[in-house]
This record gives sequence, structure tokens and C-alpha cells, in this order.
Amino acid sequence: MTSRQHNVGQIRPRRLRVNAAVRAMVAETSVEPRQLILPVFVAEGLSEPRPISSMPGVVQHTLDSVRKVASQAAEAGLAGIMLFGIPEHKDAVGSGALEPAGILNTAIRAVRAEVGDATLVMSDVCLDEFTDHGHCGVLTAGGVIDNDATVEIYAQMAVLHAEAGAHLVAPSGMMDGQVRAIRAALDQADQADIGIMAYGAKYASAFYGPFREAVSSSLQGDRKTYQQDPANVRESLREVALDVAEGADLIMVKPALGYLDVLAAVRAAVDIPVAAYNVSGEYSMIEAAAANGWINRKAAISEALTSIKRAGADVILSYWALEVATGVPR
Ligand code: PBG
Repeated sequence: MTSRQHNVGQIRPRRLRVNAAVRAMVAETSVEPRQLILPVFVAEGLSEPRPISSMPGVVQHTLDSVRKVASQAAEAGLAGIMLFGIPEHKDAVGSGALEPAGILNTAIRAVRAEVGDATLVMSDVCLDEFTDHGHCGVLTAGGVIDNDATVEIYAQMAVLHAEAGAHLVAPSGMMDGQVRAIRAALDQADQADIGIMAYGAKYASAFYGPFREAVSSSLQGDRKTYQQDPANVRESLREVALDVAEGADLIMVKPALGYLDVLAAVRAAVDIPVAAYNVSGEYSMIEAAAANGWINRKAAISEALTSIKRAGADVILSYWALEVATGVPR
């Protein structure tokens, strides 16, 4: 018997990989601009955009340049942009966060005026960009996080963001009860249509390293008393269930690449849209390897985002969002 006869009728999965057309036909996952969100930094008092050295290609924007990038996001068909504000002056209670004319509220207003409803304007509801100690909340006299006082501030921040024009607010501080308090405050302020993208499962991760430079953070120590332990996944399901019960409209898992199991578990557990944040360290590792010629940059970006999608993300926040959507490398 020849080997050819021996193989008659053999099942061959490779038939669905023989050329690009058949591979495209059977691809189970694709990354689409409409599901991508671009995180953007806006700094107070800048006269021109300032590069972030640990995130090649990412900058702190001026109010002018952020309008421009927002309109590019709209043109590229992105889901939206997520705004982070960096005030010139930080203090212990993060007062800048509650100033209607503060940098983040001003940026939200400017961007919303620019894009209208063409792309979604989203805002970070957290204090770490505004506090001089760099924590995500205010501290007690003893120097530990004051959860409930922080949540009250988040609720006021969320209302200010909504009034400035945010379509969605994104509480990222991992304080207990933050989603419930924000939902109540928005509803009381006649902002029932403003949704909450809740950072439900957010880990205390070393992969936020470059972000600390991006927001000129002065954090000493870590966030382990409020962000989650990377060892845990059941805890994420508990956190996520609480956020859903408290009124989250979308739920986020963060970081993304090291937490694809968490993402898949969360996707299976809830029936609201799930977002994943492809964080700064994930970005910078690929950029650094590519800059050294150790990795194919474009292919690595595509594989990273596809993997996040495959694991269960409906929506992805990524610093590559605009590049991926337009196909124009930075
Ligand atoms: C907190 C916040 C952080 C990130 C997004 N929101 C930093 C942190 O929790 O320490 C990190 C994002 C990234 O690393 O890309 N406001």
C-alpha cells in the first residue's frame, strides 16, 4: 500500500489554512475599530505635547493636541477615548479633581465640543493623578486609605465629568462601593443616561510602571490594600458581581495579557459587555523589544490584541488603538 492510499480520507485541519482567503473566512476573532478605546493623557500648563520616555510614541497632550487626537479617533471609527488628566499642582486630597475648571474637566469639555457623539468621551474617575502622595484616594490621619471618604469624592467627580460632557465615566480606584455611589450621584444629578465602565477586576500590577511616568505620579509604596492580588481569580468574580449589582454598565479587567484567564472567567460570568485594558507595561514591552529588533512589532501588536479579544473582551483599551484602526504606524 502506497502512503498516498494509506492517507485517503484523512482528516486535514490544515485545509482551512492553505491560503490567506480561507484563513480570513474561518477566523473566529477580529479586532475592530468600533471596539477599541484610546487612552489619552492631558497635562495642565503644557505649551506643546510632552513625550513619555517609557512609552515611545505616547505623549502628554495639551488641550489643543487632545482635541486633534479626539477627532482622529472619531474619524478612525474608534469606540472612544479615555481621558486622564494631569494637574500642575497636586495635594493630599487631590483638590484638582473637584475643580470644574481643572484639567480633566476642561479636557472633557474641549473634547466633547470637538467630537459630539461621533466617538465616546470617557473619563478616569480616580484621585491618583491629583494627589501628591499618588494614592487613588484620600488618606486617614493614620496614613491608610479612607475608602468611604474617597468614594464620596469619586461620586462628585463623576457628576462633574458628566456635566462636562463625558458619555461614560470609568472609576478605576478599586474602592468598595464606588459604583453604587457614582450611580446614585449621577441619577440624583439628572445624569441617568451617563454609563459606568467599572474597573471590576483590577490587579496591583507591575505592568502599570510606565503609566506612573505618564501621569507624573509621585506614588511611594504600592496599591495592594485596594487593588487585587495577582494570585486570585475567584476574587475577581466576587468583585465583578458586586460591580454588576451596584449598577455597572460595562465591566473591565486590567491588565489584559497576564490575565486572560480572568477575562475569560468574567466573560462567562456576566451578561454585560466586558472590556480589557492593554496597559502601559504591555505596550512598552512590545515597543522596547521591537525597537531592539527582537520582535516583529506589527505582528506582535496584532497578536496581543487578537488574544485579548479571543479570551473574551468585547472592548479593548489600547495605546495602539488609533494605529490599529487606521493602519498608519506611528
Ligand atoms: C489609576 C489608573 C492606573 C492605570 C489606569 N488607571 C494606574 C494604577 O492603578 O496604578 C494604569 C494604566 C496603564 O498602566 O496603562 N487611575
